[in-house]
Amino acid sequence: MSRLLVVSNRLPVTVSAAQGEAIVTPSMGGLSTGLRGPFERSQGLWIGWPGDLSKLDDAARAGAMKELEALRTLPVELTADELRQYYEEFANGVLWPVFHYLLDRIPVHSGGWEMYRRVNAKFAAAVAAQYRPGDTIWVHDYQLLLLPGMLREQLPGARIGFFLHIPFPASEVFRMLPWREDVLQGMLGADLIGFHTPSYARNFASAVVRLLGHEPIVDELSVAGRKVRFRAFPMGIDTETFTAKVPPSDEVFRPRPGEHLLLGVDRLDYTKGIRRRLSAVERVLERRPDLRGKLRMLQIAVPSREKVTAYQDYRRRVEEMVGAINGRCSTLTDAPIHYMYRGFPQEQLIELYRAASVMLVTPTRDGMNLVAKEFAASRTDGDGVLVLSEFAGAAEEMPEALQVNPFDVDGMAQAIEQAIDMSEGERRTRMAGLRARVLRFDVHRWAEDFLAALADDETGAAVEPAP
Ligand code: ADP
Ligand code: G6P
Repeated sequence: MSRLLVVSNRLPVTVSAAQGEAIVTPSMGGLSTGLRGPFERSQGLWIGWPGDLSKLDDAARAGAMKELEALRTLPVELTADELRQYYEEFANGVLWPVFHYLLDRIPVHSGGWEMYRRVNAKFAAAVAAQYRPGDTIWVHDYQLLLLPGMLREQLPGARIGFFLHIPFPASEVFRMLPWREDVLQGMLGADLIGFHTPSYARNFASAVVRLLGHEPIVDELSVAGRKVRFRAFPMGIDTETFTAKVPPSDEVFRPRPGEHLLLGVDRLDYTKGIRRRLSAVERVLERRPDLRGKLRMLQIAVPSREKVTAYQDYRRRVEEMVGAINGRCSTLTDAPIHYMYRGFPQEQLIELYRAASVMLVTPTRDGMNLVAKEFAASRTDGDGVLVLSEFAGAAEEMPEALQVNPFDVDGMAQAIEQAIDMSEGERRTRMAGLRARVLRFDVHRWAEDFLAALADDETGAAVEPAP
C-alpha cells in the first residue's frame, strides 16, 4: 500500500526530559499545529527530529521511542553539534532572517552551511530507508531546502512534494545568500513546490530566472527533462478544533466588566513585531486617558529557539519594554501589559481568543500566520476585531481585518482605537466575512489540494532521466 511520508525538521510532538522521565508534548508552531490534523487522517509516517533525548536513561528512552512509534513518527536524532550548526546557526541564524527580510540579523560570519548539507543528507538517508515504490514524499520548510534534490538523486522515480511555510523573499534579497544556487537546485528536486501566497511563488520564479537562467512557463519549469510545478496553496487551520466548545479551564482569564482585552499570541520571535505592537498600545494609552484602567493587553510569548543569540536579545528587549511601559502607565491597582512567557494548552488558547475584544497580529513578516485564522474560527459568537499586519501571508485572504503597516506605530495605534470604538454591527459584519473564508478553506482542504496536485500525472511524477 502506498503511504504518505511527511518530512519536517521537527516532529509534531517534542520529547523532553524532566527528572530523567520522558515527556512527550505537542510541538508549537504553525507547521506542527497545522499539519497534525491532515496527518492523523492519513495512514502515513512522519519523519523528523524528536527533540533532545540525550538526558534520558535507557528505560525512559525506550518508553519515548515506543510512544513515538505509536504516533506513527520516526525520529531522526541529531547530535549537539548538528543541532548547533544546522538548526541554530544556519537554519535559524541565516535562512530565517534572510527569508523574513531582516538582514541586520544575519551574523557577520554565517556559519553552518556544511553541517546544514550534512543534516539534510542524514534526513535523505532516513527517508530513503523508509521509501517503498508508490509512496508520496512531502518535505516541509526551510530547514530541509536541499532534501528534495538529494532525494531525487537517490530515488529518481519518487513523487516528491515540497512546501515552504515561511515567505520566499524578493529575488533581490534572496540573491544575497551565498549558497543561493544550491538552495534553488535543492528545491527543484521536487515535482511540486507549494508556497502560502502567489507573491512568494512569483518571487521564487524570479529567483529561478535570474540565478539559474531557467525560463518558467507561468507556474512550471523543466529541469533535466522533468516538469517541476510551483504555486500558492494558502494553508488553513483545523477549524473543527477551533469552533468546538471547550470545557472551562482551572485558570480562566475573565476581563472585568467594561474592560477591553487586547490579545497577542506569538512564539517569541523577532519577526512577530511584538515591540512595535507594545509601543502602539502605549501610544493609545497616552492619547486616550479615558481608556486607562479599561484597557489590558495580554501578550503570550511562547519560548522559542532560546539558544539562538538573536532570540535571547529580542526576549530581553521585549521584557525591558514591558517593564518600562508598565512603569510609566500603571496605577496602584492596574498594569496595562500582562506578559506571559510560556506555552498554553490549545483549549486555553481558544478560551483566550474568545475572551479578547481585539486580537493583535502584527508581524513585520510572516509566511502565513495561523493565529489570525485561529482567532477568527474560534469566534463562534461572531464578535471580536482582528488587527492584522499587511506583511503576514494571511492578509491576502483576510481583507475584513483592520490591516496595518507594522512599521507605522502611529497607524497601528489608530487602528487599535478604531477597533475599540467600532460598532457592534461593523464588528459582526467584518467577522462574518473572515469566518466564512477561514471555515471554508481549512487545513484538510489545503492538504488534499496539495496532494491531489502532486498526484496529478500532469505535474510529472518523475521520469527516469535519460542515460
Ligand atoms: P509560527 O508558525 O511562526 O509560530 P503561526 O501563527 O503560523 O506562527 O503558528 C503558531 C502556532 O502555534 C498556532 O497554531 C498557535 O495556536 C500555536 N501557539 C502559539 N502560541 C501558543 C501558546 N502560547 N500556546 C500554545 N500554542 C500556541
Ligand atoms: C515556524 C516554522 C516551523 C517551525 C516552527 C517552530 O512555524 O515555519 O518550521 O517548526 O516555527 O520553530 P522551531 O524552531 O521550534 O521548530
